[in-house]
Amino acid sequence: MAYLKPQRPEKVTAPSLRASKQRGERLVCLTAYDYPTARVVDEAGIDIILVGDSLGNVVLGYGNTIPVTVEEIVTHTRAVRRGVHRALLVADMPYGSYHTGADDAVRVALRLVKEGGAEAVKLEGGRKRAPLVKRLVDEEIAVMGHIGLTPQSVNKLGGYRVQGKTAETARSLIDDAHALEDAGAFAIVLEVMPREIAQIITEGISIPTIGIGAGMHCDVQVLVLHDMLGLTFDKTARFVRQYVNLRETMTDAISRFAEDVRTGAYPSEAESYGLPAEAAAELHIETANKEADIKKS
Ligand code: KIV
Repeated sequence: MAYLKPQRPEKVTAPSLRASKQRGERLVCLTAYDYPTARVVDEAGIDIILVGDSLGNVVLGYGNTIPVTVEEIVTHTRAVRRGVHRALLVADMPYGSYHTGADDAVRVALRLVKEGGAEAVKLEGGRKRAPLVKRLVDEEIAVMGHIGLTPQSVNKLGGYRVQGKTAETARSLIDDAHALEDAGAFAIVLEVMPREIAQIITEGISIPTIGIGAGMHCDVQVLVLHDMLGLTFDKTARFVRQYVNLRETMTDAISRFAEDVRTGAYPSEAESYGLPAEAAAELHIETANKEADIKKS
């Protein structure tokens, strides 16, 4: 399908995503976890911002998404909310927050929307989550599905591996996608699966697919912000394209600051404040006030 430039800068909404898919637009999604990253991502024109539970990996240092709590997602979503104006803001439902019954899940989802300011929630799982997705949608909550490699199942899966590599598991993923669409999900994340299966899913459903490690046929592409900015410590997956090495850039800036402090090069007079002449005279203090002091005070 020919590439169509998305129409900006209208506010992105859950229903507008389906229309974008119909128009053949390629949209972009990134994660964000705090006010400055949210502002930068939104102002760069990214269409969907996800407060992902990848928070556990890239911000909180847990090593995986399992320990992430509802409180943490709410706090980070509130911060992100303040920085987002145009993008659709989606918050992840963390592990354990929708596994103990539909009423509990509704309560958590409502918190993410009411307290966090999210416009939609995301949860992992296919057919088995379809009744829950329907329930949430019935409660006026927009739901994004997530199938393929579902990191909250890491203990059950035994690691992070490409999903849907056999005909049987591929068919299962296709059935999952249809079940989520039928249940009322407005979009589905397809994580780490063969591009052929992502293509079949993308062409077979009318809601957008959001691919991460699922190839070029998905309607939307998503990456974890810290991965694409090079602000990570572990080896990244093959689908991550790193656009800058922020870890290196930050280390360089921090080292130069430390060097300047240690050698006395920081702060300079221009980076400090002088006593006004009148007060200096009264206190009998010798001062060499500079133009910079007056301007900066
Ligand atoms: O938590 C997350 O960041 C995600 C994306 C990778 C889709 O679920």
